Amino acid sequence: MRNDLGDDVPSGLFDLRVGSGIAPGKLDDDEGDALFQGEAADVLVHGGVGAAGGVRYYSMYGHVAKLAEEIQKGVNSVEGVEVKLWQVPETLSEEVIGKMGAPPKSDVPIIQPNDLAEADGILLGFPTRFGMMAAQFKAFIDATGGLWRSQALAGKPAGIFYSTGSQGGGQETTPLTAITQLAHHGMIFVPIGYTFGAGMFEMADVKGGSPYGAGTYAGDGSRNPSQLELEQAFHQGKYFATIAKKLKASS
Ligand SMILES: Cc1cc2nc3c(=O)[nH]c(=O)nc-3n(C[C@H](O)[C@H](O)[C@H](O)COP(=O)(O)O)c2cc1C
Repeated sequence: MRNDLGDDVPSGLFDLRVGSGIAPGKLDDDEGDALFQGEAADVLVHGGVGAAGGVRYYSMYGHVAKLAEEIQKGVNSVEGVEVKLWQVPETLSEEVIGKMGAPPKSDVPIIQPNDLAEADGILLGFPTRFGMMAAQFKAFIDATGGLWRSQALAGKPAGIFYSTGSQGGGQETTPLTAITQLAHHGMIFVPIGYTFGAGMFEMADVKGGSPYGAGTYAGDGSRNPSQLELEQAFHQGKYFATIAKKLKASS
């Protein structure tokens, strides 16, 4: 089988389970449910060698969730690869969450650290907080000490996607500073580089994302991810899935 990158990849051998988490957010109250439907984690699509993967994220207002939805579609577009979405646990109290105007969480499963070990590839998504990943996501990563000790995630590919409020607010620092988490686990960071093509050079309209991964701008919260940002997210999912399959095939 020849993939979109023009490489020969084994067909029907791999199952990339992409686990992620989502808060449905302001953008679309049904989003979380839509993400939850149709996932087939823990099921090898075609049998053979089982490759697990995961997209997981934290989204307070729904922008990261929207990107995750497109990334899921992109991963699903690669034959023999499937996606599972997870959300990381909330660390703030309901009272604080309420004061921040965040919508209720969806019923997308909450991921536990050990769930990561089953994954053959993981995509991590989070909104920025002062130029870095949200503390909710960091707290989850901080709970992976057992996996770190055994280096259970070493050699697995990982990608990053994100949302910021403003231009200059962290479109590059947020993914860049998150790479330390991957490095300590021995994971292989898979950036998208400029594989998205001409869309990377968009100048007429505001566009999130970078060579590190797909991104969007929330603005004051009312901005939706643009069509180009959604296309970039789809591309990241497809590109990442292809790379993950190749890595699994060579292991
Ligand atoms: C405490 C806090 C800190 C934030 N820090 C930044 C920041 O440094 N730069 C920025 O552009 N946006 C910042 N934001 C805005 C968030 O990144 C924005 O709400 C988020 O990207 C929306 O994504 P979501 O809808 O998936 O939650 C901050 C928001 C909060 C609540």
